[in-house]
Amino acid sequence: MRVSIILGTRPQIIKSAPIIQEALNSGLDLEIIHTGQHYDYELSQAFIKEFNLPEPVTNLEVGSGSHAYQTGEIMLRLEKYLLKDRYSLALIPGDTNSALAGALTCVKLGIPVAHVEAGARCYDMGMAEEVNRRLIDHCSKLLFAPTLNCKRNLEKESVLGETYLTGDTMYDVFLRFKEKVDECDIIDRLELSDKEYNLLTLHRAENVDRVERLRSILNGIVNSNVKTVFPIHPRTKRRLREFGISLENTNVKVIESVGYVEMLKLLKHAKTVLTDSGGLQKEAFWSKTPCITLRDRTEWVETIDIGVNFLVGADTERITQTINLIEKRYDSIIRKFVGNPFGDGYASRKIVEIIRSL
Ligand code: UD1
Repeated sequence: MRVSIILGTRPQIIKSAPIIQEALNSGLDLEIIHTGQHYDYELSQAFIKEFNLPEPVTNLEVGSGSHAYQTGEIMLRLEKYLLKDRYSLALIPGDTNSALAGALTCVKLGIPVAHVEAGARCYDMGMAEEVNRRLIDHCSKLLFAPTLNCKRNLEKESVLGETYLTGDTMYDVFLRFKEKVDECDIIDRLELSDKEYNLLTLHRAENVDRVERLRSILNGIVNSNVKTVFPIHPRTKRRLREFGISLENTNVKVIESVGYVEMLKLLKHAKTVLTDSGGLQKEAFWSKTPCITLRDRTEWVETIDIGVNFLVGADTERITQTINLIEKRYDSIIRKFVGNPFGDGYASRKIVEIIRSL
């Protein structure tokens, strides 16, 4: 059995890493196909290196572009590649344009698709990722749900494939890198100390591509006056430049993109994380760091229900108020970090076992 895993972006490499390691350890013939959606060293190759993954067998080098361009172009290039080199199954992690293009191309070539992180829903079709994940789930043969809530979402939509509750592969990798996180020296290098700063990440198209929304979010953070470390995504960096927004001489310290271990170290020692990322909301939960989610909806409702993730959208005042509220009620919020709806740290093993049993 020859299996491919199709990825193209930073978060997809993270959630695939433990599956790839598990597959290789168990002798499963698995190859990485990289679409080239992320091409900067710090968004792609740096992560392949950090997780010690084998080099992709091909890089389709699609690069950046509109949704239709990116999705269509990946499909064309991938089809050409797959016609030469057949696989019996394609693993598709996450919900990016690379994931959608990968799933559609494979299913049309008769290659069964297995979706990793199936069933996540935020019910906001204005988000590209929501559109992508719905479509992928409905053409997948195997659906690996990270939480019970995700599995229920799939049942509600009566998907045709077989659904498995596996847990979240991001939790697997989080546990495996704990020691490395302890050893990481980024806190000293940035001259930070424990719980005296907030951490910010911001990259979603709906937040950074519109100047009013971007300003509104940043004003909320600047008005808080709390020292805030901001590892910046290339997309956001470009937008700040285009919109003429400067964060110099404010409480926000902009730094270049960081690696996986560095990000987890920054997260562990932050008082609060402010983010529009999906993955970071979960990593904040596992790190026991309160999270403010800068979106109108989230697919990780489990963390909201537990009371440690605050969904605030882009409203300036609400953002500042929530930062202050967490500061004030910090001890009682910290006590809410109990349980873990994201599995037992062996999601990747379960996924590989299911594939091997086919
Ligand atoms: C993509 C995913 C998003 C994921 C994110 C993680 C989609 C629809 N979105 O968003 O779900 O959370 O990756 O980062 O698939 N750029 C660079 N260097 C790169 C790649 C991109 O500078 O290596 C810049 C370019 O200006 C590009 C912009 O970022 O136009 C957007 O890149 P793109 O891959 O389209 O989307 P992301 O915002 O990274």
